[in-house]
Amino acid sequence: MPPKNAFYAQSGGVTSVLNASACGVIEAARQHPDHIRHVYAGRNGIIGALREDMIDTGQESAEAIAALRYTPAGAFGSCRYKLKGLEDNRAEYERLIEVFAAHDIGYFFYNGGGDSQDTAQKVSQLGEHLGYPITCIGIPKTVDNDLAETDTCPGFGSTAKYVAVSTREAGLDVRSMAESSTKVFVMEVMGRHAGWIAAASGLAAEHTGDAPHVILFPEVTFDPDAFLARVRDSVERFGFCVVVVSEGLKDRDGRYISDGGSQDAFGHTQLGGVGPIIADLCKERLGYKHHCAVVDYLQRSARHLASKTDVDQAYAVGRAAVERAVAGDNAIMPTIVRKADEPYQWEIGTVPLAQVANVERKVPAHYITEDGFGITEACRRYLTPLIQGEDYPPYRDGLPAYVTLKNVSVPRVLGTGFDV
Ligand code: F6P
Repeated sequence: MPPKNAFYAQSGGVTSVLNASACGVIEAARQHPDHIRHVYAGRNGIIGALREDMIDTGQESAEAIAALRYTPAGAFGSCRYKLKGLEDNRAEYERLIEVFAAHDIGYFFYNGGGDSQDTAQKVSQLGEHLGYPITCIGIPKTVDNDLAETDTCPGFGSTAKYVAVSTREAGLDVRSMAESSTKVFVMEVMGRHAGWIAAASGLAAEHTGDAPHVILFPEVTFDPDAFLARVRDSVERFGFCVVVVSEGLKDRDGRYISDGGSQDAFGHTQLGGVGPIIADLCKERLGYKHHCAVVDYLQRSARHLASKTDVDQAYAVGRAAVERAVAGDNAIMPTIVRKADEPYQWEIGTVPLAQVANVERKVPAHYITEDGFGITEACRRYLTPLIQGEDYPPYRDGLPAYVTLKNVSVPRVLGTGFDV
């Protein structure tokens, strides 16, 4: 078979190691010119394919592509855009075929979370239902760590490390101030439906009394009275209290404590702001002076504090996607398979896309302490390897020297536009 072109795109919330996967894809593709001629990246994910707006990664030097490994966020732009089912919007699929055929695209690599694996799964059906054969591989990514069938999701380990480090450092700060000033520090972290990131803060505590003293998980219904009793107890015993709260915290009716009132294209509620609500509660009901941080994008972009394990895994799933594709696999996602906890050993496996699309993996009950406010030893054993190792980017003038790609457009050959 003559070589074909590949389409690669980034989707959903970006991470500090998403570009490491892009690096793995492009470097591996360059080693398989017999199968893959060019890698075209979608500008802003699948939207780039629909708009015929693609980037020719072949215009980038080997050094620039290598620098993606240590550059955070999405070098080609990401998107929150959900393809509807074939029966609901055939025009979108016909447009994809039109664009893919015009650019001789035979491989589709989609780098994202659960919703994005759904997109990948739908694109894989182009061959089956619309007669356009395409090799379709999902590449896992999400700081939320909620993809099924993989030990962890690239992006999570680095966010986990950032959150654990910040909890330890801020904990020392509050401890210093507590005698005459701040008693409570609240940190809000991401994780819309699953509390993996909040759980990672628990790694910060080594000894009794260390931060965090309270973790609020989306998996545990928020009980204000039990929470406040716990905060008071911590202040009385240790002088201060550090609370880590997941943005996905819910009340007993299943409503988000903080619901921003808007939704994204995947139908997800826009979250953010539960931290200040919780902090105010401590002030109003217990009278404690507090500080509060919503770490928001800082936690998923902090490449300077990345976990080396995470970087290595992100790169490996990118490479594996290409290697599996040229070996003939289709409609699969490379996974991380844990072989041992200590020392951590892992290898790459694969799973059919149908098994991961739209499936969410939550923190299991045995990873949360019985009182609902902390992590168990089993959870610690699971999380600890994922934050191991440092992988600093190069620095220039005191700042990380990240790469900005040229992002040269692939010339359009179709005269038609497409509204998304
Ligand atoms: O998809 C991961 C995530 O980081 C969530 O934890 C968070 O709720 C969401 O993305 C934020 O998405 P956006 O950047 O689209 O607002």
